[in-house]
Amino acid sequence: MIAVLPGDGVGPEVTRAGVRVLAQVRPDVECVEAMVGGAALERGLPALSDDARALCERADAILFGSVGLPQYESKPFEERPEYALLLLRRDFELYANLRPVRVFPGLENASSLKPELVRGLDLVVVRELTGGIYFGKPKEQRVVNGVEAAVDTMSYTAPEIERIARTGFELARGRRKRLTSVDKQNILETSRLWRRVVERVAPDYPDVKVEHLLVDNAAMQLVRRPGDFDVIVTENMFGDILSDEAAILTGSIGTLPSASLGTRGTPGHQFGLYEPIAGTAPDIAGRNIANPTASILSAALLLRYSLGDEASAARIERAVEATYASGARTAELSGGSASLSTSGFTDAVIANL
Ligand code: IPM
Ligand code: MG
Repeated sequence: MIAVLPGDGVGPEVTRAGVRVLAQVRPDVECVEAMVGGAALERGLPALSDDARALCERADAILFGSVGLPQYESKPFEERPEYALLLLRRDFELYANLRPVRVFPGLENASSLKPELVRGLDLVVVRELTGGIYFGKPKEQRVVNGVEAAVDTMSYTAPEIERIARTGFELARGRRKRLTSVDKQNILETSRLWRRVVERVAPDYPDVKVEHLLVDNAAMQLVRRPGDFDVIVTENMFGDILSDEAAILTGSIGTLPSASLGTRGTPGHQFGLYEPIAGTAPDIAGRNIANPTASILSAALLLRYSLGDEASAARIERAVEATYASGARTAELSGGSASLSTSGFTDAVIANL
């Protein structure tokens, strides 16, 4: 059973697309929906209710939409929609966030970079998802000597770094065998530990070529020579930032799926959370114009990593590729010419399955 958590903003409409495609290729898979984030808060429930959590406990995987609503921006963290997502990541120990970035043939001209720089682009950002500054304590607003102050804490343990480093190495091994580890070791103690641990596990993967980049330099190289990257492994917040940057190389952040995997299950049958990396996009929510590609591709990742169904995953990915190759575009990629709605694009993908 799949727990479907559409959330806020464009979450519900794009998640609906993912569910439709999933139902088309695997009608036997049961999907059960629950409210999370702002959708739950608006009804007086916590961002992640006990019912939603219990549903996830019973599920093989979670198909997630997006969370966040402008009216909660000034609320304490625990009362914001985003808290639901952080609780799921933390409590289900989903430490490995895979964010594949691909430029589909035909979309090179949509990128803000020159087409020749992004043609055939295919990289994966492996973001550590349960540690670092997102979760370190203390994390609070304070008054110190009569002035407002705040503190966040970036902390890592060697085992936390080692397991995500191994995820990166394993992934690189099945691809072009290049791993870029990103840190800020000239400044941060956590980064010095990070680099040491990556160096320590590297000899276990002699076939993989490792490169270390400081995060500021990595941000620059990503727009300068994106095609040189294969797998990028990095800590939580650097990964958050770099994955948005990598995503837009494709022309639309609405095409990028992600898989968050953890400690439960066995390879191919891991428990995971699958979500578009883009946010709620409140400005276009409810208008049936958001690009559903990210959710459709998230459903493909779900099939691959949680349901052990590589054939269906590849079938969906091919259908998305064929849909772009046919010239179908959603509004943000159409450059002003005719475009398909969220549901129209989804129909086209289903027709190409
Ligand atoms: C992401 C998002 C989240 C994050 C937000 C919504 C909490 O930006 O998944 O990249 O910061 O991790
Ligand atoms: Mg982000």
